[in-house]
Amino acid sequence: MHGMTCIVTGANTGIGYETALGLAHLGARVILVCRTPEKGKDACIRIAKASGNPEIHVVSADLSSQKEVRKAAQTILSRWSRIDVLLNNAGTWLSKQTLTEDGIEMQFAVNHLTPFLLTHLLMPGLKAAPEGRVLVVGSDSHFQTKMHFGNLNLDRKYHGLRAYAQSKLANCLFIYELDRKLKAAGITNVTANCIQPGLVKTDIGIKHTASIHALAWKIRRSGGVSPAEGAETSIYLASSEEVIGKSGLYWDKCAPKKSSKRSYKEDDARRLWEESEALCGIRDDEKIL
Ligand SMILES: NC(=O)c1ccc[n+]([C@@H]2O[C@H](COP(=O)([O-])OP(=O)(O)OC[C@H]3O[C@@H](n4cnc5c(N)ncnc54)[C@H](OP(=O)(O)O)[C@@H]3O)[C@@H](O)[C@H]2O)c1
Repeated sequence: MHGMTCIVTGANTGIGYETALGLAHLGARVILVCRTPEKGKDACIRIAKASGNPEIHVVSADLSSQKEVRKAAQTILSRWSRIDVLLNNAGTWLSKQTLTEDGIEMQFAVNHLTPFLLTHLLMPGLKAAPEGRVLVVGSDSHFQTKMHFGNLNLDRKYHGLRAYAQSKLANCLFIYELDRKLKAAGITNVTANCIQPGLVKTDIGIKHTASIHALAWKIRRSGGVSPAEGAETSIYLASSEEVIGKSGLYWDKCAPKKSSKRSYKEDDARRLWEESEALCGIRDDEKIL
């Protein structure tokens, strides 16, 4: 991947760290987008040392803040005008309903709206690449729910798992609609795909969760794969020549598979797109179509 620039969000730990490390080993320039500057710097040093690749950089941003997402995108584009891979990996899971500074439920904001906004803002860089790839790390948990339009914040019916599943269903709907829009706009050098990493032994379920949920996650993740194994499909989609031109697909274990029936509802995808544009304040000149 020499000469290629890959953006990996949430790259200081878990699946994102292992993905960034794998891409660094392949010779890519890797930009780690991390919430905490110290954690980002530490990951950057470890990845550069382990891979022998000096082209590892950090951009700090709390991805729950649209202001910080916009600032991060500006920083990225001012330094790297061509983006080969945008890997939206950062994700969160909270037991308690929490609103962002923009007044949006945290999981919907970080897991869905941030990839949506970042993809819009970095589209000029992706279009400048010979073959730009937009990837979102979704989850099979999306099979368990529907979109709660009219109440996306899940007021009065919040449950951590429901909010997580809804945000992951939004990942599929977003990627499929993005693929349709790119094709309709005649943008043939940018693809969009969604990844299911499998059950992976990370700390995602113990960071912002009630002790009962943390305990349940500890038990559940014991049956999972390592973060390095969980990163395999992300690395494959970011780097393989086998996927050139493949777009609008849901991938698991390096192969496409069907996502839920609801994820293919084009009306829902259009509605989610419009509501996401409004919630992110996407300007006319930032619109993909
Ligand atoms: N683990 C699984 O079994 C599994 C299964 C299906 C899908 N996934 C998806 O895989 C992706 C990676 O998750 P993981 O399991 O590797 O979890 P993880 O170890 O907790 O890593 C998540 C990453 O996202 C970052 N992040 C979260 N909120 C952020 C924010 N507001 N601003 C900036 N960065 C933020 C975290 O930063 P901090 O370190 O600062 O918190 C961390 O770097 C997520 O999208 C998750 O939904 C995971």
